[in-house]
Parts: sequence; C-alpha cells; structure tokens
Amino acid sequence: MKALLLAGGLGTRLRPLTENLPKPMALVGNRPWLEHLIVNFKNQGIQDFVLAVKHYSNEIRNHFGDGRSWGVNIEYAVEETLLGTAGAIKNAENLLSDRFLVVNADIIHEVSIMPLLDYHIQHKGIVTIGLTEVEDPSQYGVVEQNGSGKILRFVEKPKRDEAPSRRVNAGIYVMEKQVLEWIPKNTEVSIERETFPLLIEKNIGVYGTTIQGYWMDMGTKDRYRKLHWDLLDRKFSLPLQEKEQDYGIRIGEGTKIGSGVLFVPPVLIGNEVHIGDRSVIGPYAVIGDRCEIGHHVRCSETIMWNDCKVQDAAQLKNCIFGYGLELGSRHILHEAVMNRTAGGMKG
Ligand code: GDD
Ligand code: MG
Repeated sequence: MKALLLAGGLGTRLRPLTENLPKPMALVGNRPWLEHLIVNFKNQGIQDFVLAVKHYSNEIRNHFGDGRSWGVNIEYAVEETLLGTAGAIKNAENLLSDRFLVVNADIIHEVSIMPLLDYHIQHKGIVTIGLTEVEDPSQYGVVEQNGSGKILRFVEKPKRDEAPSRRVNAGIYVMEKQVLEWIPKNTEVSIERETFPLLIEKNIGVYGTTIQGYWMDMGTKDRYRKLHWDLLDRKFSLPLQEKEQDYGIRIGEGTKIGSGVLFVPPVLIGNEVHIGDRSVIGPYAVIGDRCEIGHHVRCSETIMWNDCKVQDAAQLKNCIFGYGLELGSRHILHEAVMNRTAGGMKG
C-alpha cells in the first residue's frame, strides 16, 4: 500500500517561518517533520510514498530525492497550479495503488496504520477517515456518525455552535481508488468541502474511526510551540538523535558549552552548537544544529532553527526563529517569531 502525503499547502498561518519553505518541512525536534513522518510510516511497513507538492517543491525534492537514503521509494506529483486537497490526490492518480493512504503532512501524530486499515477492510467503505476529538472543532472538519461508524455529515470548519460533534478529521484516510472517479481532473477541488460531502450524499460508504495516541495540527504558531513543549514533556516521542545527558537535557554531538552555563530542563540542543559562558538555557528551549549563543544569554520557551546566532546578554522568551537568524547583543525579545529574510532583526 502506498502513502500519499499532501505537502503542497501554503502554510500562511506559520509565516514568516514558512516564508520560503513548505510547512511539512518545518523542523520538529530539530528535524524536518516530513522526515519523521516518512521514517515512522516506514517502521510500520510502508515502503512507497507519493509526495503531492506545489510550493517550494524543490526544498522537498532536494532533501529526499528518490528516498533511497531513508530506505524507501519516493515519487512526486507536482501541481502547476494549486489543485486543493482532492485535486492533489487526482493529480497523483497514475502513481497510486488500488488502495492507498492519504495524509495531511502537517499533522504531528503517532497514528498506528494497522488498526485504521483493519477497520477499513471490515467496514468495506470507499474511504475511512481517521478521527480525533478536540475541544474546539471549529478549526477542523467535523463529522456526524451513525452507530456503525458511517459518516452522515462532514462539515469543514463550522461555526463553533454549529459543529455536529467534537469528533474531527485527523487528516489521515484509507482510500479505494474508486474515489478518484468522483474528482474532476485539472480542477481545484477540496476533499473536505466538496468530495467528502458528495460521497456522503451519494451514500457510497464513508466511514470514520478514532485514532489513538498524540495528535496535533502544527498549522498555527501556538500549536507549533505547544507540540514542542509536549515533545519535551514526553507527551509523545520522536526518535531524537540528541542524547539525554541528564534528565530532560538532551545535547547533540560536537556541541561546546562554556563555563557556568545552566540548563534548566527540559531542553533539546542540536549538534555543533556553541553556548557562551554563564548563559541560562531553558526551561523549554529547542536549539538547532550549529547555532551560536553568546555569553550571559537567557533563553526560555524558545525554538531556534539551525544556524542562528544570538550575541551576548540577549534575553529571549517565547520566541521562534527560522534558519540562520542573527540577533545582536542585549536584545530583549518576547513572543517574537522571525526569520532571516522576512521580519528578521539584526543588531
Ligand atoms: N499538494 C497539495 N495541494 N497539498 C495541499 C493543498 C494543495 O492544493 N492544499 C492543502 N494541502 C496540504 C497542506 O500542505 C496540508 O499538509 C494538508 O494538505 C491540509 O491542508 P491545511 O491547509 O493544513 O488544512 P487545515 O489544517 O486547515 O485543515 C485540514 O486538516 C485538518 C486536520 O488538521 C482539513 O483536512 C480538516 O478537515 C482537518 O480537520
Ligand atoms: Mg493543517
């Protein structure tokens, strides 16, 4: 069974982090999320992937190539114009198997594929949607089901008081290829707003089952932060390469730490990072590979991607920095989200 990963959206709510980057390539625990996703699925027996890409597709292609380095096969379905979530699936038609998985590549999860697949086979639907429960369903696709799990209604992003339940589309589907007969070619089509409602209306068998384990859509800055704090708090696990040196303190290879540096756990520090004397890092700091932090810096509740430079005595709280941001000495920043090219500050 192949997995089609939808990785072509614009990621507007994560700007400026995703200014030059497809959202699923955002770092999660110091590695592109798409890499974690592919490795996780490979460990569950998926060998063949199709990546549906559009914006900054070269970022993805240059990183993964044909997938060989990860021991998987990767093919690409590139859209010339944005085709929407269903249009992207239709565009990949020639590359798909008779039954396949579709995954929103911006979802952080620990989904077990086998139970979802078993459910799909038992219920003989044309689509089985993985579901999860959330407090506020208004930002998601919300379903109403009958007792046998059949979906009677699918409402994308309803108003708060109009949501039929708190059970929402988790962004992972098992699909039969017949679904593609219901999607027009070369046209922008939304699976959530058009195809699912159509299949339900025609009563062709759309089912849903709740997935277990951690689940988070990384699509907003608040959720992007939250998933990192959850990772550091061990609410879910990823195969992090950084070794745990003390409880809650993970440090990568080749990292140099000055004298009197205080790590307040939990922290995750990448490879070849330099941290100057008497800096205080944490609680809740994720620092990417090759970052250079000066002396007397204070850095908490902050995520920094690779190659950032923070000069002496800067104070950072609740910030997110994209690749290669440079920050002058003594800057005091709270709740800043910046990258080098868009909205970056240099001092
Ligand atoms: N190739 C391609 N082409 N990919 C696309 C396109 C497109 O035109 N549009 C969106 N995507 C990709 C995005 O990159 C993302 O990985 C995924 O499809 C979902 O798009 P989002 O823009 O992130 O949608 P959302 O988060 O608002 O809502 C979706 O996800 C929720 C779960 O988090 C919907 O599927 C909701 O129903 C669902 O509850
Ligand atoms: Mg999303």
